[in-house]
Amino acid sequence: MKSSNWKQYFDQKAEIHGASVKASDYFDDASFFMQRDNTLRWLGKLRAKEILDAGCGVGAFSEPLTKDNVVYGVDFSEKSLAFAADRGLRTVPGDLTALPFANDKFDVVLCIGVLQLIEDYMPVVTELARVTKPGGTLLIQTLHKGSVQRKILRLFEQNKKFDKMYDMDELKQAFIRCGFGDIEFLKMYHPFRFVTAAVREGLVSDIFCTSFAIKGRKYAE
Ligand SMILES: C[S@@+](CC[C@H](N)C(=O)[O-])C[C@H]1O[C@@H](n2cnc3c(N)ncnc32)[C@H](O)[C@@H]1O
Repeated sequence: MKSSNWKQYFDQKAEIHGASVKASDYFDDASFFMQRDNTLRWLGKLRAKEILDAGCGVGAFSEPLTKDNVVYGVDFSEKSLAFAADRGLRTVPGDLTALPFANDKFDVVLCIGVLQLIEDYMPVVTELARVTKPGGTLLIQTLHKGSVQRKILRLFEQNKKFDKMYDMDELKQAFIRCGFGDIEFLKMYHPFRFVTAAVREGLVSDIFCTSFAIKGRKYAE
């Protein structure tokens, strides 16, 4: 699907589902909270930081961070952003291919469940990297290409809207090209409700990994 169609798609979802995580296309509350809580725990405690939630949707993912930090949310679905503002995010309409922020602004940049909607991911990763402070953290969560479960699901899938999936190494190389190190992964295995943290990709168990998060630290120049 093209970018303008995704905007329309998520505007419609926000009209139908309101502030619910269904507006951001999560299957249900349980799978959303499993992903969110494990990922935020893995990210570690944050206090007095400037954080960007890029492609924030209705803002449910980064809402817990608003208590102790300043959290900006950017998204091209303005209908979704209205709910993110209610959750305490400082919302800014915009496209991830041209973020409306200065270089090196954020201590932490999150991009959760968005990259699978992007036709050409490298310009977006470059933008996310640009707005991350030297020494700051970029965390991207997306769908894993290699999982057995996804291959089986695809055989039955009528609506193939989520066409794009990623190899962990593909994103690791993108992080390295953008000047990030200390790269780590958090691996999820839907429908199972556990996660594993690893510094390596390419393990045998990765064939059951349905989604993963990758985080890295931007090198100081
Ligand atoms: C699956 S939802 C995830 C929302 C949120 N990150 C979460 O995990 O709850 C994807 C979001 O990315 C936004 N999005 C997709 N492509 C975008 C782009 N190029 N620029 C800005 N927002 C985009 C959509 O509008 C939607 O709100």
